[in-house]
Amino acid sequence: MQEKKGTLYKSIDKRLLTEGARLDFSVYESNPAKTVMSIFLQSDSVVDGNSKVRLREIETLFIADEEYEKYKFYAQKHLQSIANSPDIPFSEKASIVYEKASEAMDELFRNPDALGNMQKSQAIVDGFVSLALQNEATLSSVMKIAAHDYYTHTHSINVSIYSLSLAKFIGLKDKDLEDMGMASMLHDLGKSRVDWEIINKNGKLSDAEFEQMKKHPGSGYEIAVEMGITDKRILAGIRSHHEKLDGNGYPDGLIDKQISLFPRIIAVCDVFDALTTKRSYKDAMTSFEAIKIMKEHMSTHLDMRLVNTLIKMCAA
Ligand SMILES: [Fe+2]
Repeated sequence: MQEKKGTLYKSIDKRLLTEGARLDFSVYESNPAKTVMSIFLQSDSVVDGNSKVRLREIETLFIADEEYEKYKFYAQKHLQSIANSPDIPFSEKASIVYEKASEAMDELFRNPDALGNMQKSQAIVDGFVSLALQNEATLSSVMKIAAHDYYTHTHSINVSIYSLSLAKFIGLKDKDLEDMGMASMLHDLGKSRVDWEIINKNGKLSDAEFEQMKKHPGSGYEIAVEMGITDKRILAGIRSHHEKLDGNGYPDGLIDKQISLFPRIIAVCDVFDALTTKRSYKDAMTSFEAIKIMKEHMSTHLDMRLVNTLIKMCAA
């Protein structure tokens, strides 16, 4: 079967065609003269061992432009099998999962009320949990793939992978780890209801702007409830990630033991990512500089046992 006349094609990442996956779009290869496309796999085919062998010989795969959205959806849905693929080195699959998760999070922030957000978030979390459970997932290897320019959606991804690494390090497992992933990934979702100019302002916020910004944990909590999240720990992770142990945080001014484990972990990873990320008004710090600031200036805000765990993770 040959290309239809007038069809535009986009290249796709062939590593995402994991064995056993069923495609709901057709995939093409260009012929040696690179003038026409010929079909590689028809829509509704399953990627089998034979097609994986043939794939090795092919440099680039293509998809018809009108099916590109289906491919994006497929990639998000299969993050977990990509993360678990034995054929792809850790750093590569981590960057694939990171990139696809960033796209999905960007969409989630643009449209937090869309149907299907819960499944999308779950697929990202499953991918991250699978990555975090691999031995190579050290803090430094994960930091290498994390974006170091600040965007709200990549910040959420960074906080999520750091939180999962930390949670795994202190012994959380299975469902606890998954719930931790969900809470940390959605922790700033309430920022989608804060004015864009405030979110992207270069430099210090005015008092009025800060008051609006302070509403994001509460809004995030509301959005999470609307999405169908009922787990109290996840909801606390979202609502209480700006609480401080000395009671000077927001939105509820919780003190010490009133702040549960999930928001404590997210708070530490939130600050760590903010310090190790570049903004237009400040450079990125190294992980050691960031932890030094956290130890010296935030001991009344953050759970220092978790900060010390972060230090151990940096040394591991
Ligand atoms: Fe936040």
